[in-house]
Amino acid sequence: MTNSSNPNATIKGPSGKSPRDSTVTMTEIVLPSHANALGTIFGGKIMEWIDIAGAIAAGRHARRIVVTASIDALHFVAPVKVGHIVHIRASVNWAGRTSMEVGVRVDSENQVTGESHHTATAYLTFVALDEHGRPTQVQPILPSTPEEKRRFESAQKRRESRMRLAEELKKEHG
Ligand SMILES: CC(C)(COP(=O)(O)OP(=O)(O)OC[C@H]1O[C@@H](n2cnc3c(N)ncnc32)[C@H](O)[C@@H]1OP(=O)(O)O)[C@@H](O)C(=O)NCCC(=O)NCCS
Repeated sequence: MTNSSNPNATIKGPSGKSPRDSTVTMTEIVLPSHANALGTIFGGKIMEWIDIAGAIAAGRHARRIVVTASIDALHFVAPVKVGHIVHIRASVNWAGRTSMEVGVRVDSENQVTGESHHTATAYLTFVALDEHGRPTQVQPILPSTPEEKRRFESAQKRRESRMRLAEELKKEHG
């Protein structure tokens, strides 16, 4: 069956959807209004693009309104200058009952030299909501390539570790 609002999104019934059905690629240019006094982009601007790309990927997978539940540690590994191009790629790594982990990778490109640098990677959890604003079930994700399977397994480990930490903190602080 093909989803009518996105002809590329193949819904494989209740058994799930491929990460490729919801992958997002966004391209932006760093404007002077995005930059600090050193002429490099504010981290918050990149965070905004990461959240938007992640929400589109999760929303495409769920075909529901989604909200950001959490963002794991986010490391900026290289600054990005005004005038550079920023590529943001997001895909659903893992899906639970109502939540999805989306991995987002950000790369910058110097459009004059063509040089490209990894800028940031982030993992976000989105939750699908029904029309009453309550968490609602999403389709399973079906990783098929070795890369998709590796991302799925890593996402599952991150989820287990998030839940373990939340449980420990609850025990400690109530
Ligand atoms: C996200 C939200 C809907 C979860 O509500 P909740 O009552 O905790 O829902 P549940 O306990 O039923 O959990 C629903 C799912 O979310 C996951 N979840 C809840 N809080 C989470 C968190 N902080 N990080 C990651 N996952 C989380 C649960 O593990 C569960 O996943 P599963 O169904 O796949 O097993 C709720 O906390 C909320 O509305 N937060 C505000 C979201 C928002 O407005 N974001 C925009 C920025 S402010």
